[in-house]
Amino acid sequence: MSNYHIKHLEEYYQVYRKSVRNPTAFWEEIAEEHFMWRKKWDNVLSWDFSKPEVKWFEGAKLNITENCIDRHLFTRGDKTAIIFEPNSPDEEALHISYKELHKRVYKFANVLKNNNIKKGDRVCIYLPMIPELAVAVLACARIGAIHSVVFAGFSSNALATRINDCDCKMVITSDGSYRGAKTLDLKSIVDDALENCPDVESVLVAKRINSEINMVDKRDQWLQPLLEEASSDCEPEIMDAEDPLFILYTSGSTGTPKGMVHSTAGYMVYSAYTFKNVFQYREPDVYWCTADIGWITGHSYIVYGPLCNGATTVMFEGVPNYPDFGRFWEIVEKHKVNQFYTAPTAIRALAKEGISHLEKHDLSSLKVLGTVGEPINEEAWHWYDDNVGKKKAPIVDTWWQTETGGIMITPLAFCTPTKPTYATLPFIGIQPALMDADGNELEGNQVDGNLCIKFPWPSMARTIWGNHQRYKDTYFSAYENKYFTGDGALRDEVGYYRITGRVDDVIIVSGHNLGTAPIEDAINEHPAVAESAIVGFPHEIKGNALYGYITLKDTGEGRIHDNLRKEINQLITDQIGPIAKLDKMQFTQGLPKTRSGKIMRRILRKIAEGDTSNLGDTSTLLNPEVVESIIEGKK
Ligand code: PRX
Repeated sequence: MSNYHIKHLEEYYQVYRKSVRNPTAFWEEIAEEHFMWRKKWDNVLSWDFSKPEVKWFEGAKLNITENCIDRHLFTRGDKTAIIFEPNSPDEEALHISYKELHKRVYKFANVLKNNNIKKGDRVCIYLPMIPELAVAVLACARIGAIHSVVFAGFSSNALATRINDCDCKMVITSDGSYRGAKTLDLKSIVDDALENCPDVESVLVAKRINSEINMVDKRDQWLQPLLEEASSDCEPEIMDAEDPLFILYTSGSTGTPKGMVHSTAGYMVYSAYTFKNVFQYREPDVYWCTADIGWITGHSYIVYGPLCNGATTVMFEGVPNYPDFGRFWEIVEKHKVNQFYTAPTAIRALAKEGISHLEKHDLSSLKVLGTVGEPINEEAWHWYDDNVGKKKAPIVDTWWQTETGGIMITPLAFCTPTKPTYATLPFIGIQPALMDADGNELEGNQVDGNLCIKFPWPSMARTIWGNHQRYKDTYFSAYENKYFTGDGALRDEVGYYRITGRVDDVIIVSGHNLGTAPIEDAINEHPAVAESAIVGFPHEIKGNALYGYITLKDTGEGRIHDNLRKEINQLITDQIGPIAKLDKMQFTQGLPKTRSGKIMRRILRKIAEGDTSNLGDTSTLLNPEVVESIIEGKK
């Protein structure tokens, strides 16, 4: 019997056991029965975490777009694949059928080919949430080009770093974007970035806001006329299972952003299978994930997972509070959304506004609610459950990462009894382990430790682009033979997992991963700054906010003046983007350091949180006196 759709808890346990007892037989069956292959694999899995090297479905040949589009044409050709809901409620929504998507993607794929993009080339996509974004992603996949989507809120410097890191030949962007009442000038951000990207040969520009923009001769072209001329026939590039499908950057605790490389077959199988089961998607449900395709959530659960299942997926261009805080609920009512997937930070921001906006809309279509990106606090969980789901729609609190490609620990809607703030049980095939400080695996329940995964799963990232050693050091060196997630977790008395948060220097602000190092580097560029350290502290809406401790130079430049705070935040906005701006800044005499010169962030974190009762032994610090002065200075 097929295990593609799990329908109750007993079945979950039974399939889970099967998936860990004999993973290769299990995944082989799922892959065989539910996907379209040009050639089947020679070997389901080979792996060695010490190298690390993982290969799924080796020898298989496929194209993911045949699975997302072609195979639906006969059975679902007229069904809506994507509902595009524009930023403004005054602009009409667009329903793109599978047939229409097919035409758009293949035309776009031909435009890429006509502009010298071939299999294996990297294409940077820097677009707002407009249909061209999903289409561009799929067009790259159609011809075997590796897409690297950069969230269109990143600054020109951040964009340039990502373009250069993987040597993109082309950038796809738009004249601008709508975000609530504002418009953003995306093309000029691209122009600035490209001053430092000599290898980019061409730029395709989608028209969205009809603004006057600068077009660089021989480099920039408007997309629409090229699409009109292009043929809508495009044979798929036949890919090997392990060929890279995309690169997506994520922040690390140190160094430059990491270009996580995802491969084709395993990613496809796992994103589709998780989508089906976590959200219990059944046709003709309408599913809406509010994330941006610039993040992994959008890749796996707006584009690939839903389309592979022939689903109808909503793409929303705007923001939750424009024109008012009822916008999400208006969209739910308008499109009769059945599954709604968002982030705790959005839930908290909406909860703060009360329930009057909810009351104006009919939310009875909602069957399943989801959350992702950061731990959800109890209050937000209950608000979501009581007021949005009316206690009838299970909440799937899905824990996963850019690196994991798909959901890892989660309830399956209607199968797994939920528990507030708990991501509950491992998904099928996932083998978590909690590790203690000595590197031993904690057995049994009611334990907490660092969260690892001990066995490969199909959608795990295969490497960091251009830096396999860093991949090994970051994820496979902390614990032998295990993938280390960077998160802490506890396992309760019944075996449910609760993610407690990052155990490294990554800070999650409004669900966005921010590494401390790039922010500190940006601050340190200011001529007055000697050094800085960033830590997170709890924030009512954002989950965490950023606290910067900044030491100024003791030369003439290093004085506090009226504009200093503004200038520092401007540097951060320029280097990374507005999402990384500091909420609090404290100018300090120095930073607490160990004798080897390492900044003691643990102490700084405690001070930022306002908990100075338990700072531990500070006497071994190189400069213990600095701690007192920082506490004093904060008051
Ligand atoms: O700390 C965990 C947190 O987000 C991190 C991954 O961030 P990113 O790669 O940007 O991917 C986010 C979307 C998948 C994790 O290491 N995180 C994600 N989901 C949850 C979570 N923390 C608690 N509960 C979650 N459901």
